[in-house]
Amino acid sequence: MTRKKISILDLAAKKKRQEPITMLTAYDYTGALLVDAAEIDVILIGDSLGMVMMGLESTVPVTMEEMLHHCRAVARGAKYAHLVGDMPFLSYQAEISEAIRNAGRFLKEGNVDSVKLEGGTEMAPTVRAIVDAGIPVMGHIGLTPQSASKLGGFKTQGRTATAARRLVDHALALEDAGCYAIVLEAVPAPVATAISERLRIPTIGIGAGPGCDGQVLVYHDLLGLYDRVQPSFVKEYARLQEPIREAFAAYRQDVVERRFPAAEHSFTMKVEELEAFQKSLEQS
Ligand code: KIV
Repeated sequence: MTRKKISILDLAAKKKRQEPITMLTAYDYTGALLVDAAEIDVILIGDSLGMVMMGLESTVPVTMEEMLHHCRAVARGAKYAHLVGDMPFLSYQAEISEAIRNAGRFLKEGNVDSVKLEGGTEMAPTVRAIVDAGIPVMGHIGLTPQSASKLGGFKTQGRTATAARRLVDHALALEDAGCYAIVLEAVPAPVATAISERLRIPTIGIGAGPGCDGQVLVYHDLLGLYDRVQPSFVKEYARLQEPIREAFAAYRQDVVERRFPAAEHSFTMKVEELEAFQKSLEQS
């Protein structure tokens, strides 16, 4: 079967067929090639790149220009996955017209297919305006890292009946505003299941249990590449830190002990050219 590019309609159809949606982050060309080759449905160019690619303490300082730079690199590598650009902090919260313009830049300059933004009911008018401008929007509620400070840290959300009920209302407001999907982050599994059952649009969980319509993980977490923060909901499918460190150390040792480069890693020249070259050196 020939593979075709995933659209938001394909994601809606997957929910209808109760087929799980797969989503992963990627931040560069090589990473995007690898994720796309694994036939992942959605690639999120997440603002988590601020932490895993740039070494920042949080996602808050990430800028539009940084996001667009990484989006373009991913778009060159991924031909089939639906590409979502993550709107960075303060690119959509201050004014609706600014939000529309910045969302548009993700499509025009970042070459992605849709945008994601954080927030619930309070973001509904912004979501509606962006969608009305022709740009598909993925919502993100629960633990919203851009407002972690307001939430009192990176904490599970919706653990009381009142807070859980509020999350349901946020999700319904985002669906009503036109979101095509919603990320549920760090939410008790029964709450995420209840939201997923009530929505017509797909939910994508991260630390939200198996009742969501899809799952997302951060590329570096899944590969065991980044352990400055290690949420308990992450499943590591590889621990690539060790083999990478070992490869770097082996390279260093080879250079220090003059085993690299060997003959097969070096270029030669024709004997007559070499002789002429050596003669010219002797004459100088
Ligand atoms: O930025 C990101 O990687 C995200 C995911 C955690 C959903 O928002």
